[in-house]
Amino acid sequence: MARILVLFSTVDGHTAAICERLRRVLAGQGHDVLVLALDGAAEPAPEAFDRIVIGASIRYGRHRKAVFDFIERHRRQLEGRPTAFFSVNIVARKPEKCEPHTNPYLRKFLRQTTWRPTHLAVFAGRLDYPRYGVFDRFMIRLIMCITHGPTDPGRSYEFTDWAKVEAFGEAVGKV
Ligand SMILES: Cc1cc2nc3c(=O)[nH]c(=O)nc-3n(C[C@H](O)[C@H](O)[C@H](O)COP(=O)(O)O)c2cc1C
Repeated sequence: MARILVLFSTVDGHTAAICERLRRVLAGQGHDVLVLALDGAAEPAPEAFDRIVIGASIRYGRHRKAVFDFIERHRRQLEGRPTAFFSVNIVARKPEKCEPHTNPYLRKFLRQTTWRPTHLAVFAGRLDYPRYGVFDRFMIRLIMCITHGPTDPGRSYEFTDWAKVEAFGEAVGKV
């Protein structure tokens, strides 16, 4: 049994939902799992864990600064144990952009940090038009229109491949 810390950086909660699914998979393997918000009030102590997983979503082309700040603050601990990183974005709904080496945001992440996680993954996220403000809804619909995605402002669309999330959890749990 390993102690596993799962950290998430989210705006609308979908990355947290993915982490909750990972928690279930890892707990099912007998691990002791703590899931925490990366940009929340509680600062986790990575040295107390055997493995660390970080998940972060993309908004307007970026992972949030809190992700990179955490990596830099705890680089030594991250480099000293098995780790995993995954990105959640909407570009990953496209089969040709859903792998770490083909997804532009995961590739950008690897250019922005020299940390090299043991496991990498990319998951397609969720669009929830009714909950967005006017500006965000307009922008996302525009991007979807250009990239041939769904644009109905009254609907939500979930693109996440949950079987892929579970397979990732199992791989992280096995190390
Ligand atoms: C305002 C806004 C901007 C977004 N920008 C991007 C983007 O630039 N590229 C992309 O692939 N997905 C983009 N997305 C899609 C999000 O990554 C997706 O909705 C994801 O599920 C959000 O995860 P979260 O709920 O954990 O924040 C954007 C979504 C919103 C609402």
